[in-house]
Amino acid sequence: MELLVALGEIYGADRLIGITSAHVSGASYKIIGDAGLEFLEDFSQTAHIRVRTTVNPVGMDLASWREIGIPEDFASKQARIVAAYRRMGVEETWSCIPYQVGNRPDVGEHVAWAESSASIFANSVLGARTNREGGPSALAAAVTGWTPNYGLHLEENRKATARIVLRTKLNGYEYSLLGHHLGGLLGSGVPFIEGLDGTEDELKALGAALATSSSIDMFHVKGLTPEWKAGDSPGLDVYDITLDDLEEAKADLLTTKDYELIAFGCPQLSEKELGEVARLMETYRPRVPVWAFTSRCIASKAEGVVRRIREAGGHVVLDTCPEVMPLELVARDVGAASAKAAVYLPSLSGQRVFVDDHESLMRRKR
Ligand code: F3S
Repeated sequence: MELLVALGEIYGADRLIGITSAHVSGASYKIIGDAGLEFLEDFSQTAHIRVRTTVNPVGMDLASWREIGIPEDFASKQARIVAAYRRMGVEETWSCIPYQVGNRPDVGEHVAWAESSASIFANSVLGARTNREGGPSALAAAVTGWTPNYGLHLEENRKATARIVLRTKLNGYEYSLLGHHLGGLLGSGVPFIEGLDGTEDELKALGAALATSSSIDMFHVKGLTPEWKAGDSPGLDVYDITLDDLEEAKADLLTTKDYELIAFGCPQLSEKELGEVARLMETYRPRVPVWAFTSRCIASKAEGVVRRIREAGGHVVLDTCPEVMPLELVARDVGAASAKAAVYLPSLSGQRVFVDDHESLMRRKR
């Protein structure tokens, strides 16, 4: 509670408000290390969550960690982190897409979500209200049921600050390129985008990339997202986006010309996206290993698809993701269809990334 009150004072909140759910990050041993592990072990001796709480990916597939090259020492420390979250009563989702594994708040619900790709999705696509929480503040909200009333909890901060007019049609991973470009262009605020017609997974990709390259935590899409009418504002600066901008974004993200492993699933794959990976695995014979990252919950609902990917020679990796597991022990040069992966794999683990759409990555010969 002290942490939440201090945050509220810093940001000028008038009060604390109740939340209906929390999503916490900081579950991978690779990311939080020994200091984080010790904090969670200590905190979980007395703390217990008060509201529904889901949790981000851990640093390994909890069932098949040996098969993906995780060292024993890493696995045992990771297991202690899992035990700490279990003691506190979180739902063991180990997933960065809480909204696709059952934690899906309604329009207007106040929540406290960490994981920037999830909080931007909650604000923009679901119309729920959250700030981009850090691991500790989301955990504090989870165990108290409260969050300070500032930022995107307030109506006035959910209005558009820039108008984006799309002059090209987008497909699949190009939403990720758009997010990377817009983040660099605007840096902050709430973009209002016209001319976009995306699926839920495409908006998921857009938000993840946007939140990675900027401090933006909400966007509106004209005619599509729930608050676009209320969020529209007159007199905004207008930015036209063309195919050239997306090509520039791709060039900015490329750090290698080739790759030794393809990693799909940043954010983790939905059931539909897994189906697409299965189709591509069966159509092409990729020359490098293909790892598809998703949650255990989604894999259990898509057993047939998971089997097809495995029978076609691919790996379906659960509970974790390409960045928060030590993938650098397996591959230095990675092919990915995600701007967020292309930013984080180099910065977190010194890896290099070839970014392209799913099909081109699978089809590409030397
Ligand atoms: Fe999710 Fe990991 Fe990417 S947590 S958004 S898959 S960095």
